[in-house]
Amino acid sequence: MVSRVGIIGAGLMGSGIALAMAMGGKDVVLYDVSSAALEKGIQSIDKSLSRFVKGGYLSKNDAANITSKISTTLELKEAATDVELIIEAVPENLDLKKKIFRQLDEYAQENTILATNTSELSVTAIAAVTKRPKRVIGMHWFNPAPVMKLIEIVKGVDTSQVTVNIVRKVSEEIGKEVVLVNDSQGFVTSRALAAHMLECMRIYEEGVASKEDIDKAIKLGLNYPMGPLELADYVGLDTMLYASEGMVEAYGDRFRPPQILRKLVEAGHYGRKSGKGFYDYSEEGQH
Ligand code: 3HC
Repeated sequence: MVSRVGIIGAGLMGSGIALAMAMGGKDVVLYDVSSAALEKGIQSIDKSLSRFVKGGYLSKNDAANITSKISTTLELKEAATDVELIIEAVPENLDLKKKIFRQLDEYAQENTILATNTSELSVTAIAAVTKRPKRVIGMHWFNPAPVMKLIEIVKGVDTSQVTVNIVRKVSEEIGKEVVLVNDSQGFVTSRALAAHMLECMRIYEEGVASKEDIDKAIKLGLNYPMGPLELADYVGLDTMLYASEGMVEAYGDRFRPPQILRKLVEAGHYGRKSGKGFYDYSEEGQH
């Protein structure tokens, strides 16, 4: 039974996962490397909670109870001890994830499950740096984590069925639906999403249509909730670039990142989280 969860990284995904877990009744310890990062994560949690209150899904009292279930720490060890499940949500860098998993493996109790929220990296390679590959698993969440229904559970080569069952149960306890996939670059969702988004970026680069019209076409013509370029800004262009680079290695040129994506990331325009991407989200920007 999982009642307390450690979350590693308070960015866009880590803070969303922390909130989704707390809304599902779990106690959460949220870790990041700086107080500024933790503060930003808590602000985003508060903002998300106020949307639920405004929408009538939660009372102010519920929101306060949920907030009280989330504690923060600057000590990795604190987020790794006395928890039954740890979910890592740091940037998509394999070396960084491996370094964190080595430390988590050292700090966490023997039975604690270590999950990674990677979008496309090898769960098996991350598990291999630990002494508990049976208890390492992929738990791929979607932004905004408290709203999106799915968790894609990724089974590494050595992940045990018991680990899969526990993670499935926790996911269902907090009201999510799951799919189970075998470890393969990009799983089901990131591979399908990258193919769609990268092609739409190429359509834009070729000057076939304006970005607004591409987004409108996909939204209204294909009934997607967001257009591909606004969704890329929403997910994070840095995340999309890393994901497509990883998929080039696995599947070849069809996933090659378009120049526009590379240039925006080089300029530090990561999408919504940095204030600018395909669209401008700053005070002066109109989007
Ligand atoms: N927290 C709390 N509530 C939120 C929220 C958040 N962060 N974001 C949206 N909501 C709520 C709103 O309050 C609203 O509630 P209401 O209908 O009761 O008023 C409801 O969700 C709908 O929001 P909006 O009216 O503002 O806007 P939309 O109808 O466009 O919905 C959306 C927003 C749910 C984000 C929708 O646009 C959507 O589903 N977009 C696609 C998101 C998506 O594809 N995510 C996956 C990306 S891939 C990924 O993350 C994986 C990674 O590894 C790459």
